[in-house]
Amino acid sequence: MTFTLSGAAPSDSRLFRFARRMDGLKASAIRELLKLTERPEVISFAGGLPAPELFPVAAFAEACAEVLHVDGAAALQYSTTEGYEPLRAWVCEQLYRNNRIETSPDRVLIVSGSQQGLDLVGKVLLDPGDPVVIENPAYMGAIQAFQAYEAAFLDVATDGWGMIPDALRAALASAARKPKLIYLVANFANPTGITTTLERRKELVAIAHEHAIPIFEDDPYGRLRYSGEDIPSLAALAAGRGVFYAGTASKTMVPGMRVAWLVIPDARMYEKVVMVKQAADLHTSTFAQRAIHAFAARPGAVEAHVANLIPVYRKRRDAMVDALAQCMPAGWTWTRPEGGLFLWLAAPEAVDTTLLLERALERNVAFVPGAPFWINREVRNTLRLNFSNADEARIREGVLRLAQAAARA
Ligand SMILES: Cc1ncc(COP(=O)(O)O)c(C=O)c1O
Repeated sequence: MTFTLSGAAPSDSRLFRFARRMDGLKASAIRELLKLTERPEVISFAGGLPAPELFPVAAFAEACAEVLHVDGAAALQYSTTEGYEPLRAWVCEQLYRNNRIETSPDRVLIVSGSQQGLDLVGKVLLDPGDPVVIENPAYMGAIQAFQAYEAAFLDVATDGWGMIPDALRAALASAARKPKLIYLVANFANPTGITTTLERRKELVAIAHEHAIPIFEDDPYGRLRYSGEDIPSLAALAAGRGVFYAGTASKTMVPGMRVAWLVIPDARMYEKVVMVKQAADLHTSTFAQRAIHAFAARPGAVEAHVANLIPVYRKRRDAMVDALAQCMPAGWTWTRPEGGLFLWLAAPEAVDTTLLLERALERNVAFVPGAPFWINREVRNTLRLNFSNADEARIREGVLRLAQAAARA
């Protein structure tokens, strides 16, 4: 007997009765459009991809070989949910060195991407309808993760200096129920590229403490700073009290290994997150954790790699900002991020960037329309550009094509 895919039965709506939480999760028209960005002729500023030509492939090959040679079968065996102990110790050491976050391995959980950290914390904390405070606009992956637990978002306005403390106070005062969590990306946010100032961070931590609401500080980009000075993390300012801190190997090493870390500020909370991670995937890949550790534990390896990334990404950011200044029609504005991977553009009110994406794709250039990053608001005239995944010549050419499409919009 042969099996063919073409013979697959049509979907049977009576057979699968979906959980109520699936009502809130919509397949997006934009995602369908973005599939077109994978055509090779398209200059895509859409994804959040690090530059693959900068991946430390040779050093990773050595690290992987070393893991198999030295650790042998242990690198291929099941392991503990909490994560590989030497990697957790390395995380603590580098969090102290880079972020002045004081923690211990028993508060660090290795997760399969910081995206999993969002999901697990959502699972432990959120009942349907529970409010989550979130920047507006916000990281789409966080919106999706919390939406799956039927969060009710309490959106707080953001300006060029981060989440606005007075807006947070007003949102908390008007909330019918006390929020379970405040989520933010303080360094070079996705999608806006905006960095929260030190004064704002202190104020946000004080408000969170005053209202006894935990913060989830998501920090994938903090080490990718191209100008300006590092600012202490909220976790450091709060001396760890009430702040989850998520870091990841994705942007400073490689994303494909799916290794990240979550600092959990409380022993009981830690236990609960371990329980739900166990149910989700038992543990993050043993081999990937050891490979990341073997790479990262070589003295200076991560620092040297980050030092390679920064000048390249800085030039790409500058190329994009310069090209926008030269080409974009009147009425457009954009952020000038000090780090990270993204710029955020606002068009004149009348421009709908989802329609603009169709025009842009005809010219073989792509971006992400801003609409899905907005919460509780319909905003149609914004968009996100990534600058890490194309060289300067392609950035200039792509921005020129975008500007031509925008001029006709
Ligand atoms: C703000 C933010 N959080 C989390 C993630 C997911 O990172 P990871 O690869 O560690 O799952 C991303 C990825 O783009 C991000 O921008």
